[in-house]
Amino acid sequence: MVCHDTTDTYKKTPTAAGMPDPAVDLVAVAKKVGKPTRKTCGDCHMSGGGGDGVKHADMSPQLYYPGRSCDVHMGGYDMQCHDCHKTQNHRIWGRSSSVAVAEGSRSCEDCHTASPHYGQQLLDYHLNKHTEHLLCTTCHAPLYSKCQPTKMLWDWSTAGDKERVVEKDKYGLELYDPRKGDFVWKESAKPEYAWTTGLTKRVLLGDPVNLEGETNLTEPVGYFNDPKSRIAPYKVMRGIQMADAQHGYLIVPHLFPRDKDDPTAYWKHFDWQKSFTAGMQAAGFPYSGEYTWVKTNMYWKLNHEIMPKENALSCAQCHDSLKDEKACLRCHQENKEVNFKELARKGTDFETMAAKGRDVVDLIGATDYIDFKKLGYKGDPIIHGGRFKTLPLGFVPVEEEQ
Ligand code: HEC
Ligand code: HEC
Ligand code: HEC
Ligand code: HEC
Ligand code: HEC
Ligand code: HEC
Repeated sequence: MVCHDTTDTYKKTPTAAGMPDPAVDLVAVAKKVGKPTRKTCGDCHMSGGGGDGVKHADMSPQLYYPGRSCDVHMGGYDMQCHDCHKTQNHRIWGRSSSVAVAEGSRSCEDCHTASPHYGQQLLDYHLNKHTEHLLCTTCHAPLYSKCQPTKMLWDWSTAGDKERVVEKDKYGLELYDPRKGDFVWKESAKPEYAWTTGLTKRVLLGDPVNLEGETNLTEPVGYFNDPKSRIAPYKVMRGIQMADAQHGYLIVPHLFPRDKDDPTAYWKHFDWQKSFTAGMQAAGFPYSGEYTWVKTNMYWKLNHEIMPKENALSCAQCHDSLKDEKACLRCHQENKEVNFKELARKGTDFETMAAKGRDVVDLIGATDYIDFKKLGYKGDPIIHGGRFKTLPLGFVPVEEEQ
């Protein structure tokens, strides 16, 4: 009923592990079931991690009634979640970064094909070639959490200070909660980019973590020189969380008090030892009694908040080599009827977005959006060549003449 309620009265109680609130009139809800909406799916998915916009970067309650520039499918075309997440016998297609894929995958190409740029547009040839190396979202979702800030860092190690004066950031969000520790929030964030085959490597409960350095709890599997790998955008959520100092795995804390007599819950007693002992017992893992704080990263692939087509990244936002007068004329012949420089620069307009209050001032004028070197290239592929081949037409990549 949580998915099929149309009365907007169904709700769960936080302490009942998913069971409905006793106040809900289940018969009334059952008589009014209908198709899921962004709201019914969102009641769970928008607040994953214990609040709005915490874990999933590209999903927040803003998607209940989004503007076109917030999400072109759900805002511009009023698509519902299940228009993309096709469902057969309650098996919902679409794989998550955090849990193993169980019910099928979904891709942009399923609807748009791998050559979605058509017509007489001068850019179509190159755009369609790029889909061999880049996921669609790399160009079409150049920002995430555009409409509502998301949590970038969560430091559990500082929790427990009930005296601390809680400060707010520029978005008006609290930077500390004695129950949870310190946070960093960001709105309109630039993704981090990595190669992916679509598979994810995950650390499961009980797996070893790095007690000294960092551990990627989820991490895309992909390689520069694998033809099946492509570049994808991610939110990387950074954390400082508890680990068993002897067993070397993460600890499950017991946080939420079951009732007013709960003797071990952290959010009642603020005693980590009690909370860890109870949490690990419930999870079925030994706890040594000695804990430490470790650094963790989670890669969340970005799939939503697709911007309207005119806001995709421009050629020059990735290729520094195309920003000046030469632009396309590096390789093509002059054509008096075409303004090549303008064409190469037509894309995400950070200046207008910043003027409208989005937190993107530092991105205005960027021409190295995806940092080719970090991804394994020697530099801009137009100058230094692509992964597998140099360009046809006998074009030999040369070092940029200085
Ligand atoms: C009662 C809460 C709840 C509701 C309502 C809900 N989901 Fe989920 N969904 C979950 C949980 C929990 C997971 C697994 C954990 C995760 O990925 O965050 C999940 C996972 C998923 C996944 C990833 C599946 C995989 O195999 O990796 C998709 C896609 C998804 N849900 C879509 C939807 C859609 C579409 C709707 C509305 C029709 C919906 N969900 C409604 C709780 C819910
Ligand atoms: C325009 C198509 C589209 C719409 C509309 C859409 N999604 Fe997705 N979603 C995707 C794609 C594509 C993926 C990636 C799936 C994959 O890799 O198999 C995805 C992935 C997901 C995941 C797994 C990733 C994660 O962050 O855990 C969840 C959960 C999810 N969507 C929920 C929703 C919900 C809830 C809605 C409605 C509010 C929604 N989606 C609307 C296309 C869409
Ligand atoms: C269930 C099918 C479906 C899926 C999956 C899907 N789309 Fe779409 N998309 C549509 C439809 C329908 C439209 C609106 C009609 C059109 O332009 O073709 C659209 C429109 C668009 C547009 C043009 C928007 C504009 O400015 O008018 C872009 C860009 C786009 N999609 C990108 C993507 C990307 C990127 C993904 C993967 C994250 C994706 N789509 C997944 C169905 C889908
Ligand atoms: C290299 C960046 C890039 C990649 C990769 C890319 N696109 Fe685009 N896409 C653009 C740009 C730029 C436009 C606007 C084109 C124009 O104005 O001529 C666009 C336009 C579109 C449109 C509108 C089509 C039209 O002609 O009206 C759709 C739909 C679309 N893209 C979907 C996708 C899908 C699906 C993928 C992945 C298979 C994808 N794009 C990959 C940059 C890209
Ligand atoms: C999101 C960043 C991004 C955007 C936007 C982008 N490119 Fe690229 N481009 C790449 C990457 C990555 C490669 C290297 C592909 C490879 O390894 O072969 C590349 C390679 C190229 C190449 C040389 C290799 C080849 O296979 O032809 C040309 C030419 C090129 N891009 C032109 C363009 C043009 C024109 C546009 C605008 C329509 C554009 N690019 C937009 C990332 C981008
Ligand atoms: C680094 C060299 C390079 C740059 C820069 C470049 N292109 Fe190309 N372009 C090519 C190559 C190579 C082809 C493939 C020609 C062939 O196979 O016949 C091509 C093909 C095309 C085609 C298809 C031509 C046809 O006959 O089908 C168009 C249109 C085009 N480019 C437009 C552009 C535009 C517009 C820009 C700038 C935004 C640009 N190109 C930048 C190398 C480049």
